[in-house]
Amino acid sequence: MNNRKRYPMPIPFGWYVVDYSDDLKPGDVKPVRYFAQDQVLFRTKSGEVTMLDAYCPHLGAHLGHGGLVKDECIECPFHAWQWGADGKIDNIPYAKKIPPKAKETQIFKYPTVEKNNLIYAWYHPNGNNPHYEVESYPEISDPEWADKFEKFEYTINCHIQDMAENAVDAAHFMYVHGVVSYPEFEVTYDEQKRYFIQEANMETPKGTVKGKISGFSNGPGDNVTKFEGICDTLLLGSTTPIENEKVITRFSFLQKKINGKVPKGGVGAAIIADINKQVNEDIPVWENKKYAYKPVLCDKDGPIAKFRRHFATFYTDYDEAKRIAEMNLK
Ligand code: FES
Ligand SMILES: [Fe+2]
Repeated sequence: MNNRKRYPMPIPFGWYVVDYSDDLKPGDVKPVRYFAQDQVLFRTKSGEVTMLDAYCPHLGAHLGHGGLVKDECIECPFHAWQWGADGKIDNIPYAKKIPPKAKETQIFKYPTVEKNNLIYAWYHPNGNNPHYEVESYPEISDPEWADKFEKFEYTINCHIQDMAENAVDAAHFMYVHGVVSYPEFEVTYDEQKRYFIQEANMETPKGTVKGKISGFSNGPGDNVTKFEGICDTLLLGSTTPIENEKVITRFSFLQKKINGKVPKGGVGAAIIADINKQVNEDIPVWENKKYAYKPVLCDKDGPIAKFRRHFATFYTDYDEAKRIAEMNLK
């Protein structure tokens, strides 16, 4: 039996990266789309980041297409109503007075935080408040490390859970990424976090380097990986659902300075190139596969069921954990 729906899972709740801090200056307004919804993302004159539902409650214009920041408000492009960063009406320039109905109206405002030079927004399908906090990564403000990210971006047609499952899918590293031997890694869980440590070989112009990869995921959208070997590298892998079956992944690399200088070219660049190569190798599988909710597994497949049970904690109104239990998946 075959049907067209590739994934039964909805979009998980969590903190997700919606932009880079340095790509949104005071006064900037952007139309964005995340979590299968339209939003307007802007930074007020005083520097406050705001993400609101896109549509103006007056007559429905998209605030991100032609809207303007006016001090601490966003002005609608259609009839110039000004909405505050809290989503409430501030001014209707041509009205004698603001009607009570407009005063009661509030555009949905996403909780946002800025950390790690990134802007994070909290998504919950029922609009619930954040259940956990965004982490700060100390390397980002450490003078021993580069002060700017090297950025890469991928838009991929797949569900965020299926992509994340890659990390615990040990065997694919050999067949998709050409890793020579079966990778040994350890995965542990603590509340919303998934920790991993892996010994891995990295291909560099100087030959194969024995490296250590460690890191953790803080919820479904925020992932940090540290590569230690010749050139220490930090990778923030931030994946955000755009639609149920479409994500944007931002890779932000930071490397440790060598003799006070950010490494240019050589091994450092080769590590970054290798990681990007791996994503490009994964994409054709991710974009064309279907979620195997009753997978047929073998003994060396990696802790897939455990991963799925943990990921299931980011869903409401969808009981993946129950489903896994019913299947008796080990
Ligand atoms: S639709 Fe926004 S002010 Fe009229
Ligand atoms: Fe992979």
